[in-house]
Order: sequence, then C-alpha cells, then structure tokens
Amino acid sequence: MANDTNKFQAIIGHCKEYGFIFPSSEIYDGLSAVYDYGQWGAELKKNIKDYWWKSMTQLHENIVGIDAAIFMHPTTWKASGHVDNFNDPMIDNKDSKKRYRVDHLIEAKADELLKAEKQEAAAALLATMDKLLASDDFSGLKLLIEESKISCAVSGTCNWTDIRQFNLMFATEFGSTVSSDGEDNKVYLRPETAQGIFVNFLNVQKTGRMKIPFGIAQIGKAFRNEIVARQFIFRMREFEQMEMQFFIRPGTQKQWYERWKEERLKWHLALGIPASNYRYHDHVKLAHYADAACDIEYDFPFGFKELEGIHSRTDFDLKSHQEFSKKKQQYFDNDIDPATGKPYGNYIPYVIETSIGLDRMFLAVMSHSYVEEDLSTPEKPDSRVVLKFPVKLAPIKLAVLPLLKKDGLPEIARQLMDACKSSFKCFYEEKDAIGKRYRRMDALGTPFCVTIDHQTKEDNTVTIRYRDTMQQERIPISEIQTLVEKHLN
Ligand code: GAP
Repeated sequence: MANDTNKFQAIIGHCKEYGFIFPSSEIYDGLSAVYDYGQWGAELKKNIKDYWWKSMTQLHENIVGIDAAIFMHPTTWKASGHVDNFNDPMIDNKDSKKRYRVDHLIEAKADELLKAEKQEAAAALLATMDKLLASDDFSGLKLLIEESKISCAVSGTCNWTDIRQFNLMFATEFGSTVSSDGEDNKVYLRPETAQGIFVNFLNVQKTGRMKIPFGIAQIGKAFRNEIVARQFIFRMREFEQMEMQFFIRPGTQKQWYERWKEERLKWHLALGIPASNYRYHDHVKLAHYADAACDIEYDFPFGFKELEGIHSRTDFDLKSHQEFSKKKQQYFDNDIDPATGKPYGNYIPYVIETSIGLDRMFLAVMSHSYVEEDLSTPEKPDSRVVLKFPVKLAPIKLAVLPLLKKDGLPEIARQLMDACKSSFKCFYEEKDAIGKRYRRMDALGTPFCVTIDHQTKEDNTVTIRYRDTMQQERIPISEIQTLVEKHLN
C-alpha cells in the first residue's frame, strides 16, 4: 500500500468523527504528537492489550507480567545508555542566543510556505529534512537551513551555530527543592518500559521462583521528545509499549532470537490480517548492546514501517545495572552442562526483547480494517465505510436494535442486552431507521447487529446481520449469545 495519502487522511478523519482518537486538549488547538483515545478507541486499545497480555502471560507458562513505575532512579538511564546516547539535533542562533529544535525550525518555514500557497516547496523542504534527519547528516541540515533562508524569530538573522545533539528524554524535578545545578532532583519520564523489567529481574526471579528460560512482560506508557512527529499516532511524544524481556542462558541467544521472531509474527497473523501486510527488516547497523535485531514492519498507508522490534540484547543491560548499582545481577543455574557434567553455575543472563508500540498496533489494525465500499446498483448510487476489525478486537461485539420504539420491542431488546452484556460489549440503539443504524455500526466496526421486530414476539426469532457480508438471517434469539461467543474464541 504505497503512500496512500488519501486513505491515511480518511482514517484520521474517521477516528475523530466516530470517537476513536481526538487531538489532545483540542479546545486549546491540541498539543503536537499527543492524542487522546475516545470511547471506542479506548475499547479497541484495551482489546489489543488483552490480546497481547493473554498471549504472553497466560499462554506461556514461563512468562509473568509486571507493572513498574514510570519514574525510575535517574542512574537507571545512565546505566542503560539513554542519558548519553538517546539524542536528536538542535541549533542556536548566535545573535539572539535562542535555541531551536532543527525540525521545529524547518517545519515553521514549511508552514510559512504553505500559508503563501507554495505547497510543493513546503513538501520538498519537509521531505529533504526527513531524509537528512534519518541519515544524521547535520552539516546537510545546517546547509538546508541556510539555503532556505530560515531566520531566527527573535534576531531576524540567519547567523546559526553548528547543529548539536539534543536528548529525547523528558526530564522533570522530583520533590519540592531544586539543587543549585538542578541535577540532584532530576528524574526522567521513561523512554522505554524495558528498564523497569531489567531493574526488577532478580525481584521477579526470586519471588516467582522462575527458572531460566523465562520472560517478564509489561505494558505501559513511554515518553520521547520526538523530533519528527507528523504521522498521527505512528510517532507520538507520549505512547504505550508492550514489551517482553526473555532471560536465557548465554550462548543460546541465536536460537531464541529466531524463535521469538517467528512467534511474534504468528501472533500478528493469528488476527487474520494478511501475511503480505507484514515483513521482517533486519537491522544492518546494530545498537551497541545488540548482537542481532530486526523489525516486524507493517504496510501502513504511508508504506512499510516499523511496528515491532525483536532484539537480542546480550547481557548489556543487566551487566550495566550491576556495574552502576554495585548489586549482583546474577542467576544460579543448577542444570547440568553436558559439556562439563557440572551445573552451569552463576552467570548474568542474556536477553531477547520483543517490543511493540500499542499505538502503532492500533494504527495497523485500523489501516487493515478501514474499507470504503461501493455498493451502487444501476438504480442507485451507494457506498459505506466499514471497519472490518478482527472480532476479538472490535470495540463493540453486538448491537441490539429494536425495529421500533414501541409495541414491546425495546423490552425484548433490553432482555437480550441484559443476558449478553456481562460476557461481551453490547450496544443498544433505538433511534433512526434501521438501515442508518446498520451503517453507523459498520463505521464503528461492530461485527454483529441483531434486530428485534414484530415476528420476534410471535416466534422468538431475530434478524442477525453480519458486518462484513451485510448478509442477514433469522435465528432464535436464544442462540445469539453462543454465536457471538463462538466467534470470540
Ligand atoms: N525497548 C526497546 C525499544 O524501546 P524502540 O524500537 O525504540 O525499542 C519499540 O521502540 C517500539 O515502540 C517500536 O517498534 C514502536 O512500535 C514503538 N515506538 C517507538 N517510538 C514510538 C513513538 N514515538 N510513538 C509511537 N510508538 C513508538
């Protein structure tokens, strides 16, 4: 799906119109790269979380889940390398001494061009910027700023310093007093959830009596002061990750890495999304802590992009935490090593990490599910927008629709609601013509609609309508709950 800009814009519009995603604090014109999930977005998001959590912690007997705090001791981020290496470029104006994020400065110029109705020039400027940022080409970026005659809003001059790195972590102060250098109380909003797992490795291993190989899973918020943040929920400043660290014996990392690559792709495919929408992308340039890494990429409307990372992180993190904390991060393995006939003994485990962005998964599911269908007949033009969500992820599973607001039909509908609503999410609607109600449920991705009409009063049957095919059939009302549950399992 190469660069389907119209579809992407349509998805963004649909998400807002139907209560999936709103810009954050919209009444104040929003906050860049921060979004709020509305009533149906929150349901979809929760269903994705449940699908991941269950597959990790329920279907794997050797994986447990934790919920660590967002704030962590600042040394955590020294040990993990984030304080020194998690950076983006910035530039100062020599006359005003004002500091700018390079992307903000160039984006402001692009906005100016747009206002002057120079759309092509604006797009070209942003595209060049993205390319230079992706290749860390700082002299190229400075040249772009100079050649585009971008000036400082305060001094009005183009007298720029060289570009330097800017740390992506958000920092804040802890407690009420600030030391003179401001450093003592400085804490960070975590840029990844993984470190909360690493620092709890021994707590979980000991209290859970976990034996290697075992995993620790976590879902939670992460924060990054992202430099390129223009792709809706693909790249946000506040987002959620679903991460799992799998602790293994050193030397077994290759086989576990391959196993988790396969397992994670299977998890995606089990949703029924076509395999052609996914591909692996092996990292050529490895991070300092990794001996192998790949992404599972998804074919978003703007092309194949990273959805999930699988990283063989060696013993880098635990070793580094051992060094900084001066607390041993070792595991005693009493299994017998066939090579020596003795227990493997003490070692710092190696780690395979699987890390998926919940919001990116939301966008992948939405991109797959969003379909505009032409239903025109020779007699009449017609169309619908339908979200063909996998049933287990759909925010609403069943819509209960009495045909009329009278004649005892709402009462029967309410009875069906009461019977089903503790098992799965149902939605009751009695306003508008039935066709209009069906279309609204299509737009929310509700897989099943049930209509209660006058015949129901005579023979206890209802019409069930299937979202994807729009086919309808008459079945006993007593079979509805089982039918939906069958699809959920
Ligand atoms: N612990 C490893 C780690 O954080 P990463 O590749 O930086 O690795 C993992 O992030 C996943 O988190 C990505 O594959 C992506 O799905 C998601 N992610 C990263 N930055 C994001 C952002 N700014 N907005 C939304 N999701 C993001």
